[in-house]
Amino acid sequence: MTLSQVWQEQVPVDGTIELPPDRRALDGLGRNHSLPTALADLVDNSIDAGASHVLIRFVRKHGRLRGLYVVDNGKGMSDSAINVAMTLGGRREYAAKDLGSFGVGLKAASFSNAKAVTVLSRTAGHAPVGRRLEADPNKRGFHCDVVAETFAKAELSRRWGIPWSGTGTIVRWDEVFGFPATNDPARVEEFITRSMTEIINHLGLILHRIIDQGRIAIALDVEDVDQGLVGPRSRVDSIDPFGYTKTGKAGYPRNLLARHGDLSVVFSCHIWPPRSRMPEFNLVTGAEKHQGLYFYRRDRLLQAGGSWDGVSVSARERQLARVEVDIDGLPPALAAMNPEKSRVQVGPDFATLAASAAADDGTAFVDYLTDAEERFKASRKRRRARKAMIPPGRGFAPQLKRAIRDEIPMQDHQVPITMRWTRFDRAHRDDFFRVDRADRVLLLNERFRPLAKSGRRGANDAALLKSVLYLLMEQAFTGEYLGVRDRDNIDLWQEVLSTAAKVDASE
Ligand SMILES: Nc1ncnc2c1ncn2[C@@H]1O[C@H](COP(=O)(O)OP(=O)(O)OP(=O)(O)O)[C@@H](O)[C@H]1O
Ligand SMILES: [Mg+2]
Repeated sequence: MTLSQVWQEQVPVDGTIELPPDRRALDGLGRNHSLPTALADLVDNSIDAGASHVLIRFVRKHGRLRGLYVVDNGKGMSDSAINVAMTLGGRREYAAKDLGSFGVGLKAASFSNAKAVTVLSRTAGHAPVGRRLEADPNKRGFHCDVVAETFAKAELSRRWGIPWSGTGTIVRWDEVFGFPATNDPARVEEFITRSMTEIINHLGLILHRIIDQGRIAIALDVEDVDQGLVGPRSRVDSIDPFGYTKTGKAGYPRNLLARHGDLSVVFSCHIWPPRSRMPEFNLVTGAEKHQGLYFYRRDRLLQAGGSWDGVSVSARERQLARVEVDIDGLPPALAAMNPEKSRVQVGPDFATLAASAAADDGTAFVDYLTDAEERFKASRKRRRARKAMIPPGRGFAPQLKRAIRDEIPMQDHQVPITMRWTRFDRAHRDDFFRVDRADRVLLLNERFRPLAKSGRRGANDAALLKSVLYLLMEQAFTGEYLGVRDRDNIDLWQEVLSTAAKVDASE
């Protein structure tokens, strides 16, 4: 047997060579990022830099969206610090509450969304500095442009509308991939509205604790460079996924504790009140999709439910159940975040750990899940006992229709009830409404429309008035003909409502 056929423990080497990564490596970075998650990474950096304010600005030129800025008033960077910042995997000392960890965030976030990133910064006692990286596959090697100091200085001294005491950082993206390649005002407006809403929802959610602690204020706006105008600002408000006003069940939230070696892991188990209309419950895509585990690291939310990670499985009946878990200090084998910080990967032991968790009174995870399911089922039962009604149709705001549908079983084979304002003829000048049973329309007297004083204009206005009338009058549309009692009721409502309207009109 020759030497090479025997397994050797040590691999012999003849020295080392340096192999800098190719530029194309930038291409593969942050593939799981969306615009909101990428911006979250930049805002994380601003928070780590101690910024109190962050501004996210869209830049529009000749009608087209051209770039994006993230500006903060944090401590900024020196010449050497900015070099580390632009380095893939660039390392620094991390403090206990720092959100940074991999040294890739800035680069991955930027190159997943834009062709070039420019960073301009100023720290106390140093001149402004600037660097620029471009993901150009034709360029060779891993070079970084040094931005002219005059430009860095000029950009940093623009009025960004955030409190400024001389230090801060600007991250500028050029040629953002997701921006519409058009100057059609309608499409650009639509894109801005949609993106801003997504960004506000995402940042408000994942940073809700940090925003509520008053550590950071985030604003968004759009600058039109041709006109030199900046549009109105939108603010990111916190969206607390545990922000119900009253618990869904007495005794909750309840902390279940599990031990993992020397570590104690807390599962903070919540039950939302059923059918809440709070955005904190619905989280855009609906509560059912947001049941499960909410992982936090250093007060930043990494995963907003959507999975039970082996502890249970998602089900309609579990939609009221949400559990907070802080992963600080947990070994990566148990729970580790992905580089985009948008998900937590749990190890095989995690589910076992959760199953062993218990409260002081012995409540285990299964008991909690049963409580959450029962709460949900009980709320359905009460609803099922309600009499089915003819659905609301045109004239009702979509949100109102949804609320009615959530509460009342619907006779969906029936033609819906329409509510329409219309001019009444002389003879019926003072009537408040008219029932058109044949077409299933409740006609409302246009004359009294101003009294409805609704924030919303157009056909779907006056939600309050219409919902009261719907609940009152739905019966008037059922059955073949109106009974004596129904007719009398309609007369009664007519009389009272038209008098009420006249009283209001005279004031
Ligand atoms: N807005 C900023 N203000 C000051 N320093 C910054 C800013 N953005 C980035 N840096 C510096 O650049 C470094 C690299 O940022 P990057 O986001 O790439 O990695 P990280 O934050 O260290 O780790 P992670 O990959 O987890 O985000 C940071 O550690 C920080 O020192
Ligand atoms: Mg970072």
